[in-house]
Amino acid sequence: MSTVLSGVLPGIPSGTSPGAQPSARAAPAVFVLEQAAVRFGLGTRTLQALCDVNLQIDAGERVALIGANGCGKSTLLRLLHGLVQPSNGRVQFDAQLVQAMVFQRPFLLRTTAQNNVALGLWLRGSAWAPAKRLALEALGRFGLAEQALRPARKLSGGQQQRVALARAWALQPRVLLLDEPTSSLDPHAKSEVEALIQHIAAHDPAMTLVFASHNLGQVKRLASRVVYLEQGRVLADLPVQEFFAVGALALRYPQAHAFVKGEPV
Ligand SMILES: Nc1ncnc2c1ncn2[C@@H]1O[C@H](COP(=O)(O)OP(=O)(O)OP(=O)(O)O)[C@@H](O)[C@H]1O
Ligand SMILES: [Mg+2]
Repeated sequence: MSTVLSGVLPGIPSGTSPGAQPSARAAPAVFVLEQAAVRFGLGTRTLQALCDVNLQIDAGERVALIGANGCGKSTLLRLLHGLVQPSNGRVQFDAQLVQAMVFQRPFLLRTTAQNNVALGLWLRGSAWAPAKRLALEALGRFGLAEQALRPARKLSGGQQQRVALARAWALQPRVLLLDEPTSSLDPHAKSEVEALIQHIAAHDPAMTLVFASHNLGQVKRLASRVVYLEQGRVLADLPVQEFFAVGALALRYPQAHAFVKGEPV
């Protein structure tokens, strides 16, 4: 039977999960996954999207999820955000921490950009007038002040992605989950949005960031730790410097090395 425990993670000493890194962990655990699995479908038509995932993510970590299409990155993010349940294993997270997630395809409502952002705040208990003010500020932060009153769904793909990011940022999350946050942006917007993510992370060291990306340069710039997935399993989990260290990856994790080199895996 699957078990999802949510709550204040009492009594989970840092660094004790099966997948924990040997490095000293000073920050509290934000997520602990033990033998977590996600299966989609029923009966004989099932698909194992995640399998035996052991992972501990601590406050303030910047974790990049990488791997080929279909390896389970989005499913893992959705599992962390509580949008899918584990079919096996255990997922623990601190339900008191505000989480926000930006999806691979921005999900925007049929109203203005400003209302989209304000609605996120209103749903979390803010009154409407301050929510609208904060929404405008958040849109300005993401270079969209002039688009605030335009219907969100009429904006370009990149602008829509930035509205989704502004909506997440406005919530002042303690845990930010980003699914390929810049994949639909042009090169200029890509580096602008990446710089904003970097800025947000730098000014809020306690915020935990987990993001999926196919952009290895971006992973190097934003992540402190890299989790490499293959067919739903975590095959490598290393600090970013070790992951990209010349030679080391090839010796320890040849499949992850092949992926980084762009070879078939
Ligand atoms: N809701 C769903 N129902 C059935 N199968 C699903 C569902 N969501 C994901 N899958 C399957 O689970 C596997 C993992 O998908 P997932 O979207 O997590 O991969 P990904 O690593 O994010 O891929 P990409 O790089 O293309 O975004 C895939 O085989 C996918 O088809
Ligand atoms: Mg995905």
